[in-house]
Amino acid sequence: MNRALTLLSASLLLASATHVNAQSGDPRAGESLHKDANCLSCHAANPYSTAKTPSFERLIAAVNFCNVNLNTGWFEDEVLDVATYLNEKYYKYVIE
Ligand code: HEC
Repeated sequence: MNRALTLLSASLLLASATHVNAQSGDPRAGESLHKDANCLSCHAANPYSTAKTPSFERLIAAVNFCNVNLNTGWFEDEVLDVATYLNEKYYKYVIE
């Protein structure tokens, strides 16, 4: 029980620490992750569009949605790298 709580708070800490400096990720790392995960097997026919995902925050959430549902296994920083890459290539939101 105690151990589980410690693990939980450790991961919460990690999550918030990542969030603080997580304004944008590494687009080149994101590009190769995106390629390796074969995301275009669906998204070539169903193109990424700003109409469905109207902000960078929403883009991170959408990348994570597919990451979780497809069991891609990306960590939070990798999701951010991929979102940064997709933003650079398709969405072009200004990231502060
Ligand atoms: C099995 C098909 C499939 C695969 C593979 C897939 N997606 Fe998706 N994705 C979807 C569906 C369905 C949606 C829901 C919204 C839609 O219709 O576009 C979606 C939505 C999204 C969106 C938001 C849509 C938009 O137009 O802004 C993003 C971003 C996204 N996926 C990223 C990814 C990434 C990154 C991968 C690779 C890990 C991936 N997807 C792999 C089916 C897929």
